[in-house]
Amino acid sequence: MNSFVYDIPTKVYFGKNQLKNLGTELSKYGKKVLLTYGGGSIKKTGLYNKVVAEIEKTGLELFELSGIAPNPRVSSVNAGADICKKENIDVLLAVGGGSVLDCTKFIGAATYYDGDAWDIQLRKVPVKKCLPIITVLTLAATGSEMDAGGVISNPETKDKIGMGFPVMQPKVSFLDPTVTYTVNKFQTACGAADMLSHIMEVYFNMDNDLYMLDCVMEGLMKTIIKYAPIAMEKPDDYEARANLMWTSSWAINGFISGGKQHAWSCHPMEHELSAIYDITHGLGLAILTPRWMEYTLNENTMSKFYQFGVNVFGIDQKLPQMEVAKKSIEMLKEFLFDTLKLQSTLTEIGIDDTDFKVMAKKAAKGGTMYGFQPLDAEDIEKIFRMCL
Ligand code: NZQ
Ligand code: ZN
Repeated sequence: MNSFVYDIPTKVYFGKNQLKNLGTELSKYGKKVLLTYGGGSIKKTGLYNKVVAEIEKTGLELFELSGIAPNPRVSSVNAGADICKKENIDVLLAVGGGSVLDCTKFIGAATYYDGDAWDIQLRKVPVKKCLPIITVLTLAATGSEMDAGGVISNPETKDKIGMGFPVMQPKVSFLDPTVTYTVNKFQTACGAADMLSHIMEVYFNMDNDLYMLDCVMEGLMKTIIKYAPIAMEKPDDYEARANLMWTSSWAINGFISGGKQHAWSCHPMEHELSAIYDITHGLGLAILTPRWMEYTLNENTMSKFYQFGVNVFGIDQKLPQMEVAKKSIEMLKEFLFDTLKLQSTLTEIGIDDTDFKVMAKKAAKGGTMYGFQPLDAEDIEKIFRMCL
């Protein structure tokens, strides 16, 4: 077991009617606020008006950047950083899903850099400073509200790169489950698949770990499996939305990793898919994850799948380990493709093998991904093919 430092410094206001604290929290960081948001869902739902009313009450000066796209582009990061430099912005307020939050983190960092923000993604410049960030989360999925990372796309180079720096961690996040009532079935399902993957990327490992954390992870996975279908069926079910929202944060805020450093597997592969085909992140993960499991299942790894099958899906523990392991993958497929109704193959979403070689090479970063099982470009290409 590894030693680790526990430090999750985001203050969270969870529940209904917490927005009344927004003005006070923003005021702690200065007078000029840049509000960032996406393609307009916050205007349709009325959240925009509520947020602006809170800002006006406190007498803060408001600036805006709208139109941040899903799979956020570096052009939005540059546009936001330009506003911050020109207007001497003191604090950033991101209102949206993971894409808005991620983009805002890099706006905060790029404000202290004079070149193209893409240089940050390429690790050409170290990020030591970032404007303070406050978030109002509208979609339970990525955990960006409580972590220090983000993922930015560059359509010109067809790259999508994830990166994180401690200074980009949100200072405060507002998590009101009622705000997610308007998230449609598809995005709710994709959010559930994303959260599940964040947990599985850590859970599936061959280390001798903290039993306590394995139990937490199994509880988080069971929570998603229980509540995602309810939220899809009854979008304003508070209990379901609340359970999903808090799970999204704890799936990736650093707690469950308990110091584990092993590389993630499905995320680097998925980022190649959304870089080229601009698909929804959670959908790509849903298609990839069971195939990655089938590829990595063997006599050495089956005990972890057995544990997963028994503790998460309640499969009979008396059955042979390999049988439980295989059944657990089948049950995951059923959940993703039958219950959540996500498309199950790349072919169905119009993706063929044209780019697999390049994507596999990029995902492996020219070497080997040392995750649950080591995977080189050849292995990754095979997994992509299993998704056709
Ligand atoms: O743009 P608007 O109009 O706001 O609409 C959005 C968007 O079309 C809509 N939406 C959001 N909240 C809504 C809503 N519609 C109705 N009601 C609401 N309350 O949903 C659509 C998708 O939004 P997006 O922010 O793209 O979704 P998500 O939260 O899944 O974020 C995905 C991005 O986060 C990255 C992904 O790669 C992807 O780029 N990730 C970030 C991570 C992190 N920061 O740690 C980790 C993840 O693994 C992930 O890679
Ligand atoms: Zn993810």
